[in-house]
Amino acid sequence: MLLDWLGSLITPAARDVRRLGYVRDSIWLLSRSRRCRAAWRPHLDLSRAFVVETIGGLPRRHTAVVLGSGLLDDVPLEALAEAFRSVVLVDLVHPWPARRRARRYRHVRLVDADLSGSIDWLLGRRSDLAPALPDLCRSPDVDLVISANVLSQLAILPLDTFEARGRVPPDLGARIVRAHLDGLAGLAAQVCLLTDVEQVEEDRGGQAVACEDLLFGITMPEPDRRWDWTLAPFGEASRKTRLVHRVRAYRDWTG
Ligand SMILES: C[S@@+](CC[C@H](N)C(=O)[O-])C[C@H]1O[C@@H](n2cnc3c(N)ncnc32)[C@H](O)[C@@H]1O
Repeated sequence: MLLDWLGSLITPAARDVRRLGYVRDSIWLLSRSRRCRAAWRPHLDLSRAFVVETIGGLPRRHTAVVLGSGLLDDVPLEALAEAFRSVVLVDLVHPWPARRRARRYRHVRLVDADLSGSIDWLLGRRSDLAPALPDLCRSPDVDLVISANVLSQLAILPLDTFEARGRVPPDLGARIVRAHLDGLAGLAAQVCLLTDVEQVEEDRGGQAVACEDLLFGITMPEPDRRWDWTLAPFGEASRKTRLVHRVRAYRDWTG
């Protein structure tokens, strides 16, 4: 707890981003990823391997953009840095372990951006969602955009914030998810999309005791690959159950 608080304190971020809880969530993610290292390993390995395979099939490798780069746990940074002349890591929060890894490469840069399009709305600067992919994704130099397990996360804090204010705009979660998917589909670059789509709570007998749609009713087409990610093994969220996320991976997302 104390370590999390210290971690939040030293993580660089814009004041509004911190105030809305993004830094706290990033530190919680970091702590959980370290606690659940063994349970997360297969998912992280599969995610990185999928991106490496995608890189291998590209005809040109000028610039790669990673959306939701976060801890860089599911991102094969070394392979990207070797293959591309330029790599851009986009997130609202770049925690220190990711910053240190990125610093090893002069052609890897960090960009702070809100991919949900909702922060200005939450802060009262707009009256609705804004288009949310950073303009740099549309540069003709960009050959690959990777959406790195960020899609299901985009609506969480906006929903929490509106809920705390007592009014949640209708369909907010689905609109945020749809906007990200449509934004990606409209890019000229190849888009590699990794996302969890469903959370299943399983008991020790392997029976599902609860399910949650992480994409707010948006249905996804058949993926190139799918696997399970044990987000919370037995003992992490509860002694009797574990949380398993169904992950889908698309090599060339076109909507
Ligand atoms: C589950 S993590 C993704 C995993 C990440 N690729 C990694 O390897 O650590 C979700 C990431 O989404 C980021 N995120 C959540 N909402 C965001 C937003 N509105 N804009 C940009 N990034 C956001 C979080 O900061 C976090 O780093």
